Amino acid sequence: MNIAIDGPAGAGKSTVAQKVAGQLEYVYIDTGAMYRALAWAVHHHQLPINDESTVSELLQKNKIQLVRENGQQHVYWNEIDVTSWIRSTEVSQYASIVASYGSVREQMLVLQRRLATQGNVVMDGRDIGTHVLPDADVKIFLTASSKERAERRWKELLAKGTQTDLAELEKEIEERDRRDMQREVAPLRQAEDAVLVDTTGITIDQVVDRILQICERTGESTH
Ligand code: CDP
Ligand code: CDP
Repeated sequence: MNIAIDGPAGAGKSTVAQKVAGQLEYVYIDTGAMYRALAWAVHHHQLPINDESTVSELLQKNKIQLVRENGQQHVYWNEIDVTSWIRSTEVSQYASIVASYGSVREQMLVLQRRLATQGNVVMDGRDIGTHVLPDADVKIFLTASSKERAERRWKELLAKGTQTDLAELEKEIEERDRRDMQREVAPLRQAEDAVLVDTTGITIDQVVDRILQICERTGESTH
């Protein structure tokens, strides 16, 4: 079975997807980390973010890999482990800009589909149910109010020792969501056959249970 989880920033996709994958002993694939790795490279090399062909060529000439190390997913840009650098505000904004380029998405699509060929994957992102894995057995669209999503990110950053401005963070998240929903190629939207799960006020474990139930029902109906 393949499971697709999409939704806006801070909806809980990666936390929940990892737990679901752990429970089912499936492989977790974080497609956002791939866009973030490319965004990191553009930022690191100070390349023009607004030039699609430069960004696309950069992806073509380099290698992004997702590697599992000590139970955690790490993302490599060639031989460099960039995992701990890709969550900054700058890289987040850059990620949604590189993700708006059709020539970048085309390449990512090939890489992501290749990662899912072995089956039994939980893949999270923005266009998994609509474009990357349109035949996924289970499709979930996770969401939560933008206020709660910003608060979650704020708490997450605080736990890592970074104090941020909550209102600023909410604005940044809304800006990125808007860009993701309004782009021409594979915008963020709920697939017609996806189950909407609103996680506002719901704990991670409750969301995981809900998704596992949906998977179980799907598994039963396909046997
Ligand atoms: O991947 P995505 O941006 O959708 O969200 P995430 O990184 O998995 O979750 C953002 C933060 O919200 C994390 O710190 C989670 O622990 C937290 N979270 C939560 O408090 N309640 C949920 N139901 C889901 C996530
Ligand atoms: O964790 P969070 O939800 O904040 O972001 P992410 O899943 O790591 O994705 C970062 C950015 O990559 C998003 O804002 C999207 O612009 C882009 N992305 C995308 O366009 N398509 C995907 N399948 C995954 C991410």
